[in-house]
Amino acid sequence: MGSLLVDNIGELVTNDGRGGDPLGVRRDAAVLVEDGEVAWVGPARYAPAADRRIDAGGAAVLPGFVDSHAHLVFAGDRAAEFAARMAGEPYTGGGIRTTVGATRAASDDDLRATVGRLRAEMLRQGTTTVEIKSGYGLNVADEVRSLRIAAEFTADTTFLGAHVVPAEYADRPDDYVGLVCGPMLTAAAPYARWIDVFCERGAFDADHARAILACGQAAGLGVRLHANQLGPGPGVRLGVELGAASVDHCTHLTDADVDALAGAETVATLLPGAEFSTRSPYPDARRLLDAGVTVALATDCNPGSSYTSSMPFCVALAVREMRMTPAEAVWAATAGGAAALRRTDVGRLTPGSRADLVVLDAPTHLHLAYRPGVPLIRQVLHNGVPR
Ligand code: NIG
Ligand code: FE
Repeated sequence: MGSLLVDNIGELVTNDGRGGDPLGVRRDAAVLVEDGEVAWVGPARYAPAADRRIDAGGAAVLPGFVDSHAHLVFAGDRAAEFAARMAGEPYTGGGIRTTVGATRAASDDDLRATVGRLRAEMLRQGTTTVEIKSGYGLNVADEVRSLRIAAEFTADTTFLGAHVVPAEYADRPDDYVGLVCGPMLTAAAPYARWIDVFCERGAFDADHARAILACGQAAGLGVRLHANQLGPGPGVRLGVELGAASVDHCTHLTDADVDALAGAETVATLLPGAEFSTRSPYPDARRLLDAGVTVALATDCNPGSSYTSSMPFCVALAVREMRMTPAEAVWAATAGGAAALRRTDVGRLTPGSRADLVVLDAPTHLHLAYRPGVPLIRQVLHNGVPR
């Protein structure tokens, strides 16, 4: 493959965690890539020789975005449901069952094509790491094939058999929890790194969520959960209690929830695309950050509540609507996502990290929020390979 030098970088975001600047910004920098990894980072004038060179032309370079929350294995869309919401209907999560019907009826190749299309869309927008959940199969065969297909695209696959109780179990939710913890988990675990539960009124209560997550942990899966999205509830504190890598949404938090997160390793992953697309109040990122909580940003890409694949869009929303600074939002979309996936090889540009980087059509990361909706991703390197 040979070595590759990305040179003439006006502003390099390293996220190296050194000094007072969380983004670890270096000016007039260069990055040497070898064997898909970052081999060296330093001032451009000391850059070592390399087989090939990319001239960043004074632009900003960032780590590739880490989208730690996405539901990409599905069929159909729910554009009509979106239109109805924009005309005043509330979002309840009830549309999930519509997507389950379409997903069960789809062929493997159709599902694979959808994941591939969305993954490619993400890559064009600078996302080099993505987590992919199941959760629109909700029976053994369709959950397992969702995860098998997801695993063709990422190592961060998540078993979300407990997304909602499917219609055929509507009057016996305990039996469905038994299925999820039993045969479904046994069949799904070989294809999953994580287990997730939608812990919310109308989905799974705290007792069911605890039981399912404990079974997943016993099967060797890491814990993450959908918590406090549609209203206050027990999800965030349950996640902290179980040592979850991340609790996601965090839209409705009490002081006790924030206190629990402040003392924990658990990341709070905010998904502003969901508030945008459901016309809901945004989570209070400032309150979490000021309490010292680690915050990540992700798209929640799914056909119901947030059909965006764009991390730059989420960064812009976080800055404009959630009072994050541009630096906090960029950190949350890169290093924060890596923390939410408990990964140290991505979300940063330091020697030994994966050579996943984005060259912006802009002189600074500030432009991601300052120029919303503008295609600012000039070039993406994924595992050191230009895309
Ligand atoms: O993260 N909240 C639960 N699951 C998804 C929405 C799924 C859907 O509406 O299809 C979410 O918002
Ligand atoms: Fe989600």
